[in-house]
Amino acid sequence: MAPPSRTKFTVPKLFEYKKTGQLISMVTAYDATFAALADLAGVDVILVGDSVGMVLQGNKNTLSVTMDQMTYHTRMVASARTSSLIVGDMPFGSYQTCHKDAITNAVQLIQSGAEVVKLEGGIHLADTVEAIVEMDIPVMGHVGLTPQSYHRMGGNRIQGRSEGNEAGSRQRVIEDALAIEAAGACALVLEGIPLDVAETITQQVSIPTIGIGAGPHCDGQVLVLHDVLGLSEKQFTFSKAYGNVRNQVVDALSAYVKDVHTRTWPDEDHSFR
Ligand code: KIV
Repeated sequence: MAPPSRTKFTVPKLFEYKKTGQLISMVTAYDATFAALADLAGVDVILVGDSVGMVLQGNKNTLSVTMDQMTYHTRMVASARTSSLIVGDMPFGSYQTCHKDAITNAVQLIQSGAEVVKLEGGIHLADTVEAIVEMDIPVMGHVGLTPQSYHRMGGNRIQGRSEGNEAGSRQRVIEDALAIEAAGACALVLEGIPLDVAETITQQVSIPTIGIGAGPHCDGQVLVLHDVLGLSEKQFTFSKAYGNVRNQVVDALSAYVKDVHTRTWPDEDHSFR
């Protein structure tokens, strides 16, 4: 049953939720249909994620996703005019080159309907976050397992387990989070890190942390839509299927195929005279 109509989830609410200890629900969506359903279900934040490259495009990582594609999907999601806050992901190559590119592309996502932009990276990207924030564009950070660092990490691997201060170590992930907070981000995705590292970061920063594969101590949680619905073929340890839409889709389509093959569909009631 859908919750009653609600007030718009805005950027100031992110801070309010952190202060009052209310937990934030976030899920990805890539089109108007599912954005509207997520809104109906009461999702606080919708992320137009560059996971679109894996989930919808069938690629093994997110690296080939373009600004044109993110703009297209952000427009579709925004057209659902949700109460959920809409975050648009900045794809690989859209912000790493220089501040001017980063600002231009962030502006493009906002003009497409995003209310916040998200980008991956820590200490080395802090000045980029700052440059976008200075343009009055809210930025959500993303540290830990950053899928755009696919090649450096050797695949999508859990971060924050090693000692030392190299990229991906426990200490470095914490420093990355602090640097992104200091740069002015309004929230922070923590992905693929041990739960105690996520807990330490959550205690140390004044902005909400939103975890995926980061344990229960974050200020909110995010999952990929197709995983939540049980539409994905694969199940990940960090994810949970709350439905079995994959089976429902196959059952519905099989029934349709059978009806067509047996001339059961369409019947007289669904035909014109
Ligand atoms: O692109 C995405 O879906 C993401 C989430 C996994 C946080 O960045």
